[in-house]
Formats: sequence, C-alpha cells, structure tokens
Amino acid sequence: MDELPIGIFDSGLGGLTVAAEVMRTLPHEQVVYFGDTARCPYGPRPQDEVRKFVLQIGSWLSRRRVKMLVVACNTGTAAGLDAAQRAFGVPVIGVIEPGARAAVKATRNRRVGVIATVGTVESGAYSRAVRALDAGVTVFSVATPKFVDVVEAGLRMGPGQIEDTLAEVSDVFIRPSFHEMARDYLDPLKRTGIDTLVLGCTHFPLLAPAIQQVVGSKIKMISSAEETAREVAETLAARGQLASPDARPVHRFATTGDATEFALLGSRILGRPVTSAEHVPVGELEALEPREKRAEPGATSRWI
Ligand code: DGL
Repeated sequence: MDELPIGIFDSGLGGLTVAAEVMRTLPHEQVVYFGDTARCPYGPRPQDEVRKFVLQIGSWLSRRRVKMLVVACNTGTAAGLDAAQRAFGVPVIGVIEPGARAAVKATRNRRVGVIATVGTVESGAYSRAVRALDAGVTVFSVATPKFVDVVEAGLRMGPGQIEDTLAEVSDVFIRPSFHEMARDYLDPLKRTGIDTLVLGCTHFPLLAPAIQQVVGSKIKMISSAEETAREVAETLAARGQLASPDARPVHRFATTGDATEFALLGSRILGRPVTSAEHVPVGELEALEPREKRAEPGATSRWI
C-alpha cells in the first residue's frame, strides 16, 4: 500500500475531466492536480516549449512527493511523455495511448477520427498510437483549436453546472457560431466515413453533447479519461501501490493562474467542491526544470 498522492496535470482546467474519472475509479486515492492556466493554451506552442513545461510541472509535483504522474493533456503527452518518463523515478502515464486503445476497441469499420489541438495533430501521436495497436485502422485528424477557447469562455461565463453554462453561453455567444464553427471542422471528418471520434483534448469532453449533436448519433465519441483512469488503477495495483481502502483522501490543487477562479471553475468541472487552490508563480516552475536522464540502452519499459 502507498498513501502518497497521484500527481495529475494539464495546461489548465481541461485535465480535471481526467482527474474526475481517476477520483471516481479510485475513491481512496489522493490527487494533487496542477493546472498551468497562466500558460494555457499549449496547443499552438512549439513542441520543445511544451516539453519544457511538462518537465517543470513534473518536477514541481515530484518535489511534493507523488507515487505516479498523469499528463492529463494530449498536447503535453504528445510533446513530453517520453521525456517525463525518462526524467522522473515514478510511473508517468499520458492520455493518448489510452484514447487510442479505446478507439481501436470501439471502431467497427476501422475508420477513426481525432479532433485535437494543432500541437497534438501535428505531432502525429494519435496515428502512431492507433497504428501500433492495429495497423489496419485509418486515422483522420483535424485540429479544432477554437473548441478550447469555447470551453474556456463558457466556463468563465456562468455560475451553474458546466452543461447549463454551455447551454447558456450557446444562446448568447456560441449559437449559431458554435454550430457553424463545429460544422466547418467536423463535416469533412464525417465525409471520411468514420464511425468513431476521439476527443483528443481533455477540454473537449465538456463540449461532448454539442459535438455529438453536430456529428450525429451514429458516430461513437471517445474520451480518454475512463481508459486513462483504468490504466492508473491497473498500474498501481500491479506495483502494490494502491491506497488503503480506509483512506479518506483530501485532494489538493495548484495553478499558475488565479487561484480563486481556479477553485470556482474547478468545482464545476469536478462536481465536488475545490475549497482552495495554491497559486504557483510561473517563475517558480521555470527554476525547476530537470535535466533529462538518458534511457537505459535497450530498455523497453522504464518503470515497471
Ligand atoms: N487540454 C489540452 C489538451 O488536452 C488542450 C488545451 C491547450 O491547448 O492547452 O490537449
């Protein structure tokens, strides 16, 4: 048994969709969540810069002592998962492989769509992950960066549950422009004949009903959160590191942005109160960047 927390991080609030699933799947585990809100979005940034951010936040969380790290950001996973797995002495799990696995399981016609940030799409990480699982599946990827802006704007606009807020925002701001924007992005994907669509950005599950409306009910939508939570659970179980079933975890939150706003918006995404969040200045992170360790020659698995 291991009572240390699981460190989960994202460019901002979107990774809370993964944290929520981890908390649901593993109710006895403590989570320390880090949202790099001040530097969000990561999507348009160069891979080298995002990799640096991943290593900085991984270092910050490692100093707080965690038993595992979850990169709950597709853009961060695409740019920095390998580097983080080399740099830290704990298991590091990303969200792309779990998302790819769920999509390969779900597709019947072996045509899978992916919507994600520019960084994730340009990295080709989803195509590689899907091909590694089943080379016969064709992946069609589209960058939908404006969806990140819609989620961020929607979250900041109203006090209700996120679904209500997005409906409210739709009336004054998103509709019809959200639907037009979504159709521009998604119609070409629909024409490829996909039967499965991966929400390849952890912000997007918050838009799932609106996206489903545009793509239609025949396309199955995949969010990597559940599959990632399953991988977290299996990895901890295999290593004998699950928390005690008597544990009553108190989750902690940190952000480079406004801590009060983070707690407020975070509570709405998580569906449970975030009573406080710690503000971490970006300068503190910049001072932490670790030097990457080289992988052992021939090593296929770095941490099990
Ligand atoms: N949540 C991030 C991801 O999963 C996207 C948001 C951003 O561009 O920072 O890719």
